[in-house]
Amino acid sequence: MKSTLECKENYDVKNLNLAEEGELKIEWAEKQMPVLKVIQDRFSKEKPFKGIKISACLHVTAETANLMKTLKLGGAQVCLCASNPLSTQDDVAAALVKFHKIPVFAMKGEDNVSYYNHINMALEHSPQITLDDGADLVSTIHTKRKDLLENILGGTEETTTGVIRLRSMEKNQALKYPIIAVNDAKTKHLFDNRYGTGQSTIDGILRATNILLAGKSFVVVGYGWCGRGIAMRARGMGARVIVVEVDYLKALEAFMDGYEVYNIKEAAKLGDIFVTATGNINCIRKEHVKSMKDGVILCNSGHFNVEIDLAEIEKITAKKRKLREYVEEYLFSDGKKIYILGEGRLINLASAEGHPALVMDMSFANQALAVKYILDFHKQLENKVYKVTDSIDKEIAKLKLHTLGIEIDKLTKEQEDYLSSWEMGT
Ligand code: ADE
Repeated sequence: MKSTLECKENYDVKNLNLAEEGELKIEWAEKQMPVLKVIQDRFSKEKPFKGIKISACLHVTAETANLMKTLKLGGAQVCLCASNPLSTQDDVAAALVKFHKIPVFAMKGEDNVSYYNHINMALEHSPQITLDDGADLVSTIHTKRKDLLENILGGTEETTTGVIRLRSMEKNQALKYPIIAVNDAKTKHLFDNRYGTGQSTIDGILRATNILLAGKSFVVVGYGWCGRGIAMRARGMGARVIVVEVDYLKALEAFMDGYEVYNIKEAAKLGDIFVTATGNINCIRKEHVKSMKDGVILCNSGHFNVEIDLAEIEKITAKKRKLREYVEEYLFSDGKKIYILGEGRLINLASAEGHPALVMDMSFANQALAVKYILDFHKQLENKVYKVTDSIDKEIAKLKLHTLGIEIDKLTKEQEDYLSSWEMGT
């Protein structure tokens, strides 16, 4: 693979000839992103980001392309690199370069060296604002490109894993610029993490394997918003869903939601399909794999490829074989086989196309408005992780309902008074 540092042009994508195909995908996604479009139209007129340099490290998808277009139309000089080696849509990357003149550094299937080279190329842009999905850009800036810090006004973070890393940086006083945690907006995690991950994870598993889910024992490891969504959709396909969780409240919630709840040791013996969505490391380990049934399927939907301990599992593997794109067979010395999907990377973006545009609309509306917020308020912000303001969250929910053609009621004056009073009882 071509190394980015040798790349002469101001981009590094697989094949510019894919651009026409990618442009059509961007157009198709745009139709499902009306909230972002409203913001785009406003930014196009007002040009709030005129002269501002933005580097984004996001999954390079048709939905992300529409966010990049929005920021560029708002006057920003944007550049984009991948936030995962397997999630890039090469045709979309080509279209952004060819038709939108946005420098993109991303190739599906890039190795770790290329992945970090691409991040470094995106940082050559000397950003004033950063957009991250997983905090690799922030982490690289704070460790290897501290020279860039003085120019940076702030950044945004898209995902739970990134927010956890950044909160830990804040706690250790290592964070050197303010971050808006887009993930924590209600219009983001209640929809993207739940309905987006729920659907796209099932989509990824089915595209990779074409298996029948009905009647299968489907183990979901982690019952956060992503796990809740995956469990809900797997049940909808007729699977028997088992939840594994370490948090008492979430485990209880899973039980009352009607799922079977076991620890991983017990679930390992029962499952046909295992999906991790915890944001934590080594949740499925060698000792669990040893007690699994022959022929089980393992995959991950968390941000990093750390949730299944593949390094240790490989040590007990006699032979590996690729059976289909994104399906690898691991054969053990006793003759048992397991199947790992998408190298343990997030399956919804590796073998499918990530969350549908309709839900990314809200996530990326939050991103666009968070970038504007950084620009307007960076002088008042400290080097902390901030929530998206309630007013932005509410505005996005209101716009989304409006674009869905849904009207809701307003409280009457009498109802408002009642809610703010305490005298009236039965
Ligand atoms: N994360 C999950 N799905 C995504 C998508 N379609 N685009 C960008 N980031 C994503």
